[in-house]
Amino acid sequence: MEWYEIEGPTRLDGKIAVQGSKNAALPVMAAALLFSGTSVLRRCPDIADVRTMEEILESVGVCTRREGDALYLDCTDIKCTVIPRGPAEKMRSSVMLLGSMLSRCGSVTIACPGGCTIGKRPIDLHIRVLEEMGAKIRMEHGMLSASCKTLRGVDFTFEKSSVGATENALLAAAGAVGTTVLRNCAREPEIVCLCRFLKSMGICIQGEGSDVICVSGSVCRSAGEFEIPADRIAAGTYLLAGAASHGQVTLEGADPGDMTALLEVYQKMGGQYEYNSGKLRTDSGRVRLPEGLQVRTGCYPGFPTDLQSPLMAAFSALSGLGSIEENIFEDRFRTVGELRRMGADISVSGSTAQVRGRALHGADVSACDLRGGAALVIAGLSAGGITRIYNPQYIERGYELMDEKIRGLGGRMYKRRIP
Ligand code: UD1
Repeated sequence: MEWYEIEGPTRLDGKIAVQGSKNAALPVMAAALLFSGTSVLRRCPDIADVRTMEEILESVGVCTRREGDALYLDCTDIKCTVIPRGPAEKMRSSVMLLGSMLSRCGSVTIACPGGCTIGKRPIDLHIRVLEEMGAKIRMEHGMLSASCKTLRGVDFTFEKSSVGATENALLAAAGAVGTTVLRNCAREPEIVCLCRFLKSMGICIQGEGSDVICVSGSVCRSAGEFEIPADRIAAGTYLLAGAASHGQVTLEGADPGDMTALLEVYQKMGGQYEYNSGKLRTDSGRVRLPEGLQVRTGCYPGFPTDLQSPLMAAFSALSGLGSIEENIFEDRFRTVGELRRMGADISVSGSTAQVRGRALHGADVSACDLRGGAALVIAGLSAGGITRIYNPQYIERGYELMDEKIRGLGGRMYKRRIP
């Protein structure tokens, strides 16, 4: 059994190198399949979800290798189109293989995707757009089988903004004959990143970052090099850990342009920051919850749902009263019960949580999902006494060496195990 042990409270001070983005790396890894030859992804985070995606790619014949922070994906020979259940069921992003394998091979069989249990997480939008492009998709015994003779360009409007469905459609459109126009697309920076990767490989794309994206597909170029951008969610997590502890944390390599919604909330809380030469310096000396602070999660550029639990942990540890409304995933308050074990005063009504900040105390708690786990780390660092966080594997899905990085800021966070 493994767990993280945190001894708090500690004020976090110092520098942290922000890892490459998980949510950007995973679709780019799937996109590498489109191109014959070796794609090199620099600053690719060494986290469990990336390793699971490597396992999935290896199962179809990709040779993967790591050199420092670079991940090499040799996609010259694709030998198989059936992806084993195990890795595919571990994470939601396995669904990206639908679009990329249809583009590259014209068929794929894969288990229905897994991932964090933060809501229903259907894949109807993914399936609808791929079917519109000519794919035949069947679901039997928890497996999805998709095939097509040729993918064709279409004019498609998403009923709802979805990051994953937009990415899947882009992967299919890159291999489709003719032009695809996608409307009501998600506008998250990770979509822009995927488009930048595809463009660097010769695909013609316009409109990324807006809600209408136009793709002229048919892959022809061979693979090349690409740098994964900074993880705005990991950067935000460390910023909030600093905020909860009234520390001064410098985020090296963060991109404040992708973090405006969080930085606005941080300023309302009295946080101060400056950005210079790639470094985001934050000062949380005067941070508190101004009475009546309300935060609502929303699609980009709104406040990211992935930072909702970390923000709730910071609110719980500061003085004042704030409310958080979750508008993306219906089951994303599961960490509330664990925070309450640490003394947090949170009341939930429908999709809104009211948080009255107070001093927290250490407790034995369990991570229920990736970002909920990160929230427990933030709470543990500001709580008095020992906090043990069980199910650390959730945290390790998305955070690279979190315990080491926290120790670099002066926090006392250690991985423990009994054989
Ligand atoms: C991605 C991110 C996740 C983030 C989320 C929202 C990755 C690997 N994950 O997840 O960290 O929290 O965006 O920013 O990038 N929906 C449907 N039908 C579908 C697809 C989605 O109804 O076919 C709904 C979802 O249930 C949810 C909403 O649309 O309510 C948004 O989900 P979506 O943007 O698709 O999230 P993911 O791509 O799964």
